[in-house]
Amino acid sequence: MVDELPDTKAARVDWVIRAPDNAEMKRRYDIWAKDYDADVGSAEDYLAPLETARIAKGVLDQSALIMDAGAGTGLVGEALKEQGFNNLVAVDYSAQMLDIARRKQVYTELHTCDLSVQTEFETDRFDAVITCGTTSQMPSNSLREFVRIVRPGGKIIFAAVPELWVECGYAAVFSEMRSAGHLDVVSRGEPFQMMPTTEPDFICEVWVMNVN
Ligand SMILES: C[S@@+](CC[C@H](N)C(=O)[O-])C[C@H]1O[C@@H](n2cnc3c(N)ncnc32)[C@H](O)[C@@H]1O
Repeated sequence: MVDELPDTKAARVDWVIRAPDNAEMKRRYDIWAKDYDADVGSAEDYLAPLETARIAKGVLDQSALIMDAGAGTGLVGEALKEQGFNNLVAVDYSAQMLDIARRKQVYTELHTCDLSVQTEFETDRFDAVITCGTTSQMPSNSLREFVRIVRPGGKIIFAAVPELWVECGYAAVFSEMRSAGHLDVVSRGEPFQMMPTTEPDFICEVWVMNVN
């Protein structure tokens, strides 16, 4: 079989982001999984997981039941574990990405499912959903699902790229849900370069939302 994976990290990022639909994006992540950490996993270059986990530590109890949504290979789970969190559930629709995450032994459960439609998780199950590196990829409908599965008073912690938040439809879903009284923004972190060495133009902010 011809290896479809592009040669460079930048081309791989571009390849998954430009997938024509959700199913094709999942297939591309399955192919990229074995190389993802070598490409993206350096804590010196990919700052978003550490920054997201640091902010989570400021707003969540360490016993909180947290879903890592779009967990991928578990980089966010590893960062959360370093901050003292132990009750972590990984969810991703790429089974190959989750296979890498499983080996890291930071999650109590791992589930392969699509977060842009209603999932198997019961309403109000989680104290928090955390998602990082997903704004351009996971369909904005997933924000509705996050609100359903997080208990009232729980948090959604979203490492968002502000332009993509608007472009990819999250702003519209958010404003509809806020108008309906379902969630509010508690804090909006300082902008930072999520990949300062390799992608200096990717600016990210970690937003904390409260589910009402
Ligand atoms: C850029 S990776 C980020 C992975 C990890 N959070 C990190 O920061 O390294 C995006 C992840 O979102 C997952 N993803 C994209 N759309 C999804 C969906 N609709 N449902 C579940 N997972 C999805 C992909 O499979 C991929 O693992």
